[in-house]
Amino acid sequence: MTIEVQGVRRAFGDVLAVDSISLTARPGEVTALIGPNGSGKTTLLLMLATLLVPDQGTIRVAGLDPVTQHAQVRAQIGWMPDGFGTWDALTVREVLHTVAAAYRMPADRARARTDELLHTVHLADLADRRARVLSRGQKQRLGLARALINDPHVLLLDEPASGLDPRSRIELRDVLRSLAAQGKTILVSSHILTELQEVADRAVIVARGRTIETQNLDADFVSTASASWRIDSLDGDRLATWLAEHHVPATRVGGGLTEVEVAGEENAARLLADLVRDGIRITAFGPSQGALESAYLAATQDRR
Ligand SMILES: Nc1ncnc2c1ncn2[C@@H]1O[C@H](COP(=O)(O)OP(=O)(O)O)[C@@H](O)[C@H]1O
Ligand SMILES: [Mg+2]
Repeated sequence: MTIEVQGVRRAFGDVLAVDSISLTARPGEVTALIGPNGSGKTTLLLMLATLLVPDQGTIRVAGLDPVTQHAQVRAQIGWMPDGFGTWDALTVREVLHTVAAAYRMPADRARARTDELLHTVHLADLADRRARVLSRGQKQRLGLARALINDPHVLLLDEPASGLDPRSRIELRDVLRSLAAQGKTILVSSHILTELQEVADRAVIVARGRTIETQNLDADFVSTASASWRIDSLDGDRLATWLAEHHVPATRVGGGLTEVEVAGEENAARLLADLVRDGIRITAFGPSQGALESAYLAATQDRR
């Protein structure tokens, strides 16, 4: 049930929305598609969802070709577009019944599936509310339930965490993790670097329609890859002087915090030891960026 994308390109007139994107998303994993606005994420997802045809390259979704095996691909995927659409007059339950009907699900099956999904996305209490009154986080969860109605093996989610408050984001993360644990293949986009950090197993970074880098997001990655570290000290002025004397690039970010540029955790550990040895009182020392942010900044450097 893998997603395989090889050298895919798609233009709209003279706008090259996707220039050359390649990626693999595996079952049981959450793969994050990360890139700034306009980098081609939505265009790529539309091609995976059979809603747009690539000009070049190959796509396989669960071994199927979205261009020639349209209906079979659609049966395998759940698609959650960016934005909720115009279902506002229906209740939460009606939205899901309507989608189930579109899949020609028998009414009793549709009811059972709806109840199950309302539970999965924590919307059971709101089943009879109009979709209009839902908060953004609740609407996103309803969108996810909608994408899950046909129990797809592959989930394509466009910016599902966009605009969510921290609690909703954690709930989304938990739902996605449990879906991945069931063996689903999940590809989820975001233009916000840190948004998917806790949920994704792997990040594919895209910029200007091209794959820039693929990064595994294991636990060690944050500290080993970080090139920028945050130091909190009781002796801010002495720290500044020390760093200047030792030619360590540093920026005071206020509130006693200083950001230093030191590549990798070996060098960071040495710096910390030196500072402590010289009597500078450190209260906190850690990577200043998350894993995705480091990879993203490294990958998009000098590409402007
Ligand atoms: N239907 C379209 N017609 C013309 N240009 C488009 C169309 N869809 C997307 N684009 C352009 O393609 C580029 C990539 O867009 P998109 O895939 O939406 O990026 P993202 O989702 O990463 O923000 C942008 O420059 C966008 O303006
Ligand atoms: Mg988009």
